[in-house]
Order: sequence, then C-alpha cells, then structure tokens
Amino acid sequence: MHPHLFSHRTVDDYDKQVRAAVEAVSSRIQAVRQPRTAAAPEQLQALVDGIDLDRPTGDTFAAIDEAASLYLEHAVWFHHPDYLAHLNCPVALPALAADAIASAVNTSVDTWDQSTSATLMEQKLITWTGARIGFDEQCDGIFTSGGTQSNLQAMLLARDECRRRSGLRSTAGFCILATDQTHFSVAKAAGILGLPDDAVRVVSTDRRGRMRPDALTDLISDLRAAGKSIMAVSATAGTTDRGVIDPLPELAAICTREGIWLHVDAAYGCGLLVSRQRRSWLDGIERADSVTVDYHKSFGQPVACSAVLVRRAETMQHAGWHADYLNPAESRHPNLVDKSLQTTRRFDAFKLWLTLRATGPDLLGDAFDQVIDLATGVAELIDDDPVLELLQEPTLSTVLFRYLPEDGSTGPRLLDAVNTRIREELFASGRVLIAKTRINGSSWLKLTLLNPETGIDGIASALELIKWTGRRLIGSGEFVDCSSDGADGTGIEAA
Ligand SMILES: Cc1ncc(COP(=O)(O)O)c(C=O)c1O
Repeated sequence: MHPHLFSHRTVDDYDKQVRAAVEAVSSRIQAVRQPRTAAAPEQLQALVDGIDLDRPTGDTFAAIDEAASLYLEHAVWFHHPDYLAHLNCPVALPALAADAIASAVNTSVDTWDQSTSATLMEQKLITWTGARIGFDEQCDGIFTSGGTQSNLQAMLLARDECRRRSGLRSTAGFCILATDQTHFSVAKAAGILGLPDDAVRVVSTDRRGRMRPDALTDLISDLRAAGKSIMAVSATAGTTDRGVIDPLPELAAICTREGIWLHVDAAYGCGLLVSRQRRSWLDGIERADSVTVDYHKSFGQPVACSAVLVRRAETMQHAGWHADYLNPAESRHPNLVDKSLQTTRRFDAFKLWLTLRATGPDLLGDAFDQVIDLATGVAELIDDDPVLELLQEPTLSTVLFRYLPEDGSTGPRLLDAVNTRIREELFASGRVLIAKTRINGSSWLKLTLLNPETGIDGIASALELIKWTGRRLIGSGEFVDCSSDGADGTGIEAA
C-alpha cells in the first residue's frame, strides 16, 4: 500500500488533508488586511532558499504549515478590494469546489476513453458559449490554458485556412493586421507559427485606441498591391490597457467583403456575453471566424479557464492530429485532443460548469456590469481632481491616469519617473496594488477593476494614497535630474 496515494483506501486521510488545506486558506484569508505583505524580494528568496527539497517534513500537515508561511502569507490576493492591478478576478466558490473535485478525479479531457461524460460537458459549454456569441450550431471550440494559447490556436487556424484558400505552402508573404493595442500574444503567435518577422502590420487607431476601419481598408489594399497574403485581422473586444472594443460590425463587414479571417480577442470583454445591460457592445462578434474567451478574467473563474471558439467547426481540423495509440481517425467517439494543442488536459471546464449550475450566468454578468459602472465613477473622481489626469473615459473597467505634481511641473520625463516610482512604492508597501503602462510614449498608472466588492470609497482612499506618495516622492528631491526635459517647452523644476 502507498499511503500517500488517493484511493478508496485513503479516504480518511484525503478528508483530513484536504480539510487542513482548506483551513489553512480560510484562516489566512481572514487575516489578510492588504493585497500583499511588504516582504522584500530578498526576504522571500531567503525563505525559499531555506527549504531543502530532499528533506521532507514527513506529513502533509507540516508541509501545509510550512507552505502557509512561505506562500499563503506572501501571496498576492486578488479578492482584496485594494488589488487594482491586472486582469485577475476574485473567484466563484462553486469553481473552487469544482477544482477540488477535478484534481481528485484527475480526468484528462483528451480522449473519450479518459473522460467520457466530462468530454460531453466541456463540449456543451462550448456550444453554450458559442450561442452567447451568436454562432449557430456549426460552431466549435476547445478549452485552453489562457488567452495566449487561445490566440495562438486562432492564428494557427487562420494561417492554415489562408494556405488552403490561396494554395500557398510558404508563409513568406503572410500578414496579420492588428493595432498597437493588440495583446502581445498575437505577435508571439506569429513568431511561433514561423511567420516572417514583419508579419504583424499595425493598423492605425482612433483617439481612444480602437482600430480604424478606413485605415484597415487602406492597409489591405496596400499590402495586396505589394503581393502580400492577409492571413487574419486580429480585433480586440476589451484591450488590455485601454479597455476599448474595436468596431466589430465595421471590421466584420470589411473582412467578409475581402475574404479575410476575422479573429476577435475577447479575453477581457467576454464578460459582456453574460451582461444583461451591455451585451450589445459585442454586436458583430458573431461574424468572427474565431473568438478568444477568458473565463478566468471576466467570469470569476480560477486560472486556468479559457477557450477558443470558431464559427465553422471544419476550420478546427487544422489543429488535428491522429495518433494510433490515442485518437485514431476511425475512432467512433469524440476525442477532444483532435482539436487541442495540448494532449493531457485538465478538466478546467468543470469550474465553469459548476458555477453556471450553482449560480447561473446572470450573477456573473451583473458583476461585470458593476465593475464597468465603478470604472465610470472612478474616472469622474479622477477628472475632478486637479492633481490627477485622466487619459480617457473608460469603456470597460480599466482606468488610465497619472499623478501631476502640485507644483505644476509637467515635463514628460518627470511625469514618467514619478508615476513609475509611485507604483513601485505602492507595490513595496503592499497596501494598494496598481499597474503601469505606456500609451503614446508616456507612462500612465492603470487600475483594472474586476472585483465587484471594490467600492468607490475604497478607490477614493487609494487615490489619496497615490497622491500622498507622489507628493512625498517629489518632496524627497529624487527627481531633480529630470528637471529640465521640457518637451512641452516649459522646463521642469522638480522638488
Ligand atoms: C486582450 C488579452 N488577450 C490575451 C491575453 C492573454 O491571456 P492569458 O494571460 O490568459 O494568456 C490578455 C491578458 O491580459 C489580454 O488582456
């Protein structure tokens, strides 16, 4: 007997050990007062270095205790209302229960003979998501490890459809049309797929960062005149930084007219699929050839839970491969590995399944609507504040802004430096976690709101902390070197 293995003989130990894990998380989460501790990287490195992986603690309880002080204590907690940084969401309770079940059973949804009903459940969720997108019964899809993998698979399908239609084997002249706001995973996918270095061509955007249909039309003509093959237009419904939605109806009309594959990366904006107020913002997505949906961003699901869907099931065959030992072509049952880039694959769909069965889609959509409303309120707060500058009105739930020193300094180098340091200081203290990005060459602070428990008062306090930190940094004299960059012609007097 191997007492560390899960089986019908070890259910008592299973019960005790999993309970101990749940208790460790429960007691820690009740003690969490800010999204992370202020532990410095060297301190964490020393803690991890102090563990000898060849000298076990001897039992799960001691190992959990040890992990509690290494990991749980210093984790970044996405449920905390002051976690405002990236596209991470608090998670739904039924999804946690589902994860525990899926890990214990250890299903691999690659072939029917390893998964049976789990295959059918995943497939039903794909059909359900497809119907929400507005696809008909011809659609198909597969769960993936995240938006990056979903985008990679979409680009692979687009490449092979382009090859099939054009009769070209070489991808030397293939292009993907995107914007400077497209998630980097699309460019990475182009590299992985062996496309030329200049394959991703940038379509201009409007003032808010949305792809311009007129610019797309012009670029298509120019590239075609130069003998290029346009493999795909990659549109985004919810850009990572600016949270905007490309004009999907117009882009779909152009792609249909020109016979070009339209991919819509709705990794972030997919929450609108279950919104009762704003579903129309995704109108046009039903004309896409492929769509990325990240349930682990906008449906309250634990990582990993994502999918790529296609309007026409037959296009999925480009991801297929038949192995004699696993999924021979003559197999009479559905084998999801036929359309996945992975072989062994977790039953991540089960999290979404249990969430939908326990709570239904409306609760998820309402939470997404709530954070969009919150973003609008936060933008008003910022706009009314003379020492904060709002980049633009939010569309989804990201808010971009920057701190403007009270002494009136406006030089770009100083603004970049002080805003960069504000974010670093907040992260080091662990009190409020925010993100930072660059737009049109300048640094902006970013709030990504995905937690419906975050309230406007909490954000008002976070903004006060940001301003206080900015004032303190300016007062410290740290930025005197940035004092005369004056791209605005004014010259700067920092500190
Ligand atoms: C629009 C968009 N697409 C794709 C991705 C990549 O998703 P993932 O991190 O799940 O791989 C992100 C991540 O933030 C994103 O914002």
